[in-house]
Amino acid sequence: MATAKAYTNIALVKYWGKKDAKLIIPQTDSLSLTLNEFYTTTTVKFNSQLNHDIVKVDERFLDKEDAAKVIHVLNIVRSLSKTNSFAEVTSINNVPTAAGLASSASAFAALAGAASTAAGLHLSRRELSRLARRGSGSATRSIYGGLVEWQKGTDDASSFAKPIDEDVDFPIEMLAVLINTKKKKISSRSGMQLSVSTSPYYKAWQEVVAHDMVAIKRAIKEKDINKIGHIAEENALRMHALTLSADPAFTYFNGETLMIINAVEDLRNHGINCYYTMDAGPNVKIIYDHKDRDKIVTRLTDIIDSDRLVVSQPGPGIKIWNE
Ligand code: PMV
Repeated sequence: MATAKAYTNIALVKYWGKKDAKLIIPQTDSLSLTLNEFYTTTTVKFNSQLNHDIVKVDERFLDKEDAAKVIHVLNIVRSLSKTNSFAEVTSINNVPTAAGLASSASAFAALAGAASTAAGLHLSRRELSRLARRGSGSATRSIYGGLVEWQKGTDDASSFAKPIDEDVDFPIEMLAVLINTKKKKISSRSGMQLSVSTSPYYKAWQEVVAHDMVAIKRAIKEKDINKIGHIAEENALRMHALTLSADPAFTYFNGETLMIINAVEDLRNHGINCYYTMDAGPNVKIIYDHKDRDKIVTRLTDIIDSDRLVVSQPGPGIKIWNE
């Protein structure tokens, strides 16, 4: 039996498209910031008495589709460790209720750490990153803290994350604006597949990412939060342009997303530097220097309840306990 705690991450240069859907090999590199406020704690216990895997998340059994992704990772662990016992998986997400931020990144990173350790494997962080990738692409990066790059690679062995700056010593912060959605979202899995196969801009996106990876790594070296934020914002908009240009077209934005984008632009017009990014849902995350936090929060509470704002700082890498 083992327990692991992994933190979620938000991409500053996004992963949006697979080259190999089975192994989850991405079309492009990506780069993210691990956050200290949102995490998943998962315990895995292999038990020879069981006749199937039992998966419970936040005290509830998963639906068939989500359970299948967990069992897929357990099967890889069983084959690596030559175990054939089934497992009991218990997972708790530390995310505010109704956040729509339930993150597959922290979930599959924690599962990789707990399942491999419970099965007696002693994987390196690189190997853990590869295993987490098999559950969900973004989980590849949640093995590490701080600023993390996922090198796309060409196959299972070469597609893994590596830390760019695990102990971020400059005052970058991220404010998550939690926007509720009633509409069922298109999964990132099908959204990216549709973008790769139908957006006429997909090739341009690959060039954008190659350019942004170089530029953002330079900005990180310079500890230049404005440059990092500007690159992240442009990159996010270009990713979302792939959804609008797909056939059929779709978007993850809703009215509140646009309202928050406008507020960020307005803050910037008033001399407060902050930048936004969005993923496969309506929530907005704002990047800024710690010294501007109060002004940003004050402006946003004019238009949204304060309990929908969560400030995060750079978070740590995975922790694993062998019990
Ligand atoms: O790993 P997935 O399937 O949850 O996809 C993540 C996609 C984005 O969050 C939009 C971008 C990213 O790099 O995390």
